Amino acid sequence: MARPYIITIASEKGGVGKTTLATNLAIYLKALAEDLPITLFSFDNHFTVDQMFQLGKATSQNHVGQLFTGLKAEELIVMGQYGVNYIPSNSQLFDYQPEIKTIEHLALTLSQSALEGVLIIDTSPVLDHYTRNALHAADRVIVPIKDAPSLENCRHIAEVLVNQGRSKTLLKILPCLIDTRIHFSGPFRNSYQLLKAYAINRGYRCYEGFIAKSPKVETLGTNPSGKIYPVITHARNTDVHLQLTHLARQVYLEYLEQGPTRLNEVANDLFEQTERFVQQSSDRITKLQSTCLCCDKPLPEENAWPNAYYLENSNSSYCGFIEDECFFEMLLRDCYRELSGTEQQNLLREILASPTNTGYLLLQKTQMAHETARIDLYRLDQQGEKISGRSIEIREAKLLKHRGRINLMQFFSKAETDIEEETQTLLVQRMGENPYGILEHKAYLEWLTVFNRVQVDQCNDRDASQSVQGSDTQFQ
Ligand SMILES: Nc1ncnc2c1ncn2[C@@H]1O[C@H](COP(=O)(O)OP(=O)(O)O)[C@@H](O)[C@H]1O
Ligand SMILES: [Mg+2]
Repeated sequence: MARPYIITIASEKGGVGKTTLATNLAIYLKALAEDLPITLFSFDNHFTVDQMFQLGKATSQNHVGQLFTGLKAEELIVMGQYGVNYIPSNSQLFDYQPEIKTIEHLALTLSQSALEGVLIIDTSPVLDHYTRNALHAADRVIVPIKDAPSLENCRHIAEVLVNQGRSKTLLKILPCLIDTRIHFSGPFRNSYQLLKAYAINRGYRCYEGFIAKSPKVETLGTNPSGKIYPVITHARNTDVHLQLTHLARQVYLEYLEQGPTRLNEVANDLFEQTERFVQQSSDRITKLQSTCLCCDKPLPEENAWPNAYYLENSNSSYCGFIEDECFFEMLLRDCYRELSGTEQQNLLREILASPTNTGYLLLQKTQMAHETARIDLYRLDQQGEKISGRSIEIREAKLLKHRGRINLMQFFSKAETDIEEETQTLLVQRMGENPYGILEHKAYLEWLTVFNRVQVDQCNDRDASQSVQGSDTQFQ
């Protein structure tokens, strides 16, 4: 699958020439390699890209923010002037930030797209989610610098790359807006040479040459048509034209030599990760107890019983399903003996059933003296926060096995871990139509998060009040 080579233009400084570079580089690359598809978009808050490339009146409602909403990149692309395709800009990108789930979001979207050739991403001067995503997806990062402070800022961009396990060498510096009229005495005769020496001294790679400050280029955005003109058509007699031509050649050579590798890496990682998740979830299925954890009914081949409860102990060494009715009856027998009327029992049934996909049940057993155990039973919300609970003391001798079903103490003892625990903790969630859904990666991750929280809360509670026994609040 052909994937695009991605060039991200980034700098934490505004006004260093990022957007001018991104837009013009797109055109110069196209001029150099006519058949190479070139696409461009900007995460900055203005419409320079649109003002330069839009053909006629704007017709598309799509924009760059939608790259994070599940739409495919090719659906957002508009054919632009000079043979360059672009994705329209948006000035309200801030509103779309919550859509950005991870630093990999953009790379994953682009790796699944039909884009080819070269994609240039212009960024804003802020290292926000958009810029970080653009850096993560990049095969090449170009950092324009115009003075020593903008070079200092480059450190943060390098850090983002290095923190993602990537090489600092994919970042390359380009001195921009260089005033060639200024000369220094000494070894570095102008600000270009000085900046380049600084950059190399700090371990950065640099492009050959620079982009000069040109009054002609500065005025390309100010004209009665409201358009922004490119250097190639409206400032061809400037040094900047030659400098951009030289830069485009270097960039094109790098593209030819290296090719689009980043999105391939991202796609392969995703593939391997998906395989790993599938494997992990099938390992969890293998670990399941083969019968209902209360009665000995074997687990159906294809699926667990509908509305079954899923249970795990604190180190995941014991896990399986409990039939709906079985669980209810055991709790009724051993924890809610006082509920004799059908109406009350039905109420309990409703309460137990309600956590389907919205919450959990937490069962804890603490061994006490004289063969007595304290049982704490809590309802938890989706985040694992306790909603209500009850605490009872049970004498083991008083519990009976009932019609082949185990009692609560036997139930706990089957689920014991091999770790010494003062309090044995079991987490239960009522499944809906798809009991095995809990074993899939995302759902299981949520489960583990809640279980961790329960265990942290338990440690905190123990530290806070060693002596206070469980609450007596009613389970409602
Ligand atoms: N080579 C150049 N010579 C003169 N002015 C330039 C040049 N490149 C950019 N500019 C001007 O500098 C300002 C900032 O450039 P811009 O590309 O918008 O920077 P950034 O995207 O980093 O904020 C703009 O007004 C632009 O017209
Ligand atoms: Mg800009």
